[in-house]
Amino acid sequence: MKIFTTKGEIAEYLLQKRSAGKTIGLVPTMGALHNGHISLLAQAKAATGEVVCSIFVNPTQFNDPKDLEKYPRPIESDIEKLKSAGCDVLFNPPVSEVYAADEPAWHLDIGPLENMLEGKFRPGHYQGVTQVVFKLFDIIKPDMAFFGQKDYQQVLVISRMVELLKLPVKMVMCPIVREPGGLAMSSRNVHLSAQEKQDALALSQLLQLVKENFATHTLPELKELAAGFMSQQPALRMEYFEIADGDTLYPATADTPKVVALVAAWAGKTRLIDNMIIK
Ligand code: PAJ
Repeated sequence: MKIFTTKGEIAEYLLQKRSAGKTIGLVPTMGALHNGHISLLAQAKAATGEVVCSIFVNPTQFNDPKDLEKYPRPIESDIEKLKSAGCDVLFNPPVSEVYAADEPAWHLDIGPLENMLEGKFRPGHYQGVTQVVFKLFDIIKPDMAFFGQKDYQQVLVISRMVELLKLPVKMVMCPIVREPGGLAMSSRNVHLSAQEKQDALALSQLLQLVKENFATHTLPELKELAAGFMSQQPALRMEYFEIADGDTLYPATADTPKVVALVAAWAGKTRLIDNMIIK
């Protein structure tokens, strides 16, 4: 596996690959890799000729400085995992390679997605995400980019950016990889105590409950069912739960064709998100 830390070197390397007829697949990550990330790599490998993984803990998307500071950064074991997964190229730049000291301000009009659900609880988060993903696309120029359904709203936001700026990238959304008990894999799960891990199972159980009852209940009934279930989980501090239109994330109505349920909650000091496609 080739490892690059500078824009210039990786761009030059990929230019050669592209001239040799290879298509480029990109899997952007912030590292602390788990099987969710590895599943994205596997899908990238199946679809493209040269697979690039980026590991960059992007400071501009953290609205909480403590979260940025304690974000896990096990780069040596990440490198081993990428090699085992057959990744071709790792891009692991320092912050100074991605952001200039006099970095111009970034603002992209991503519409209502900016302030709903994740956007509401993490102000500025999606501006930071689009800023860094735009830069990664610009450096790596992937034909296809692979993102997890785990961050459903992120996929919608980045897809909107691709559309708005007419970027020549095909977006691919990959399914959520879960622990055997149902907990969605996340780099932040390492912060959970054994008890918090147990408590966190309620998130996927909630989504499963909604999915199982969707065909037989109205939306208000489902919301009531969900509220009843969550009221029995005092260890979790809920931020939001929504049964939403899968394209806009506005609350679903009876005739919404594509429905997704999304949830965010705190287990102790760790913020967790999860979602499930319901229809
Ligand atoms: P990170 O949280 O490291 O996630 C990298 C990619 O892995 C994202 O597309 C995310 O949705 C996906 N992923 C995480 N957990 C997953 C799971 N359990 N199953 C399937 N896919 C999963 O998302 C980011 O980094 C950043 O915002 C980034 C896009 C890299 C921009 O900085």
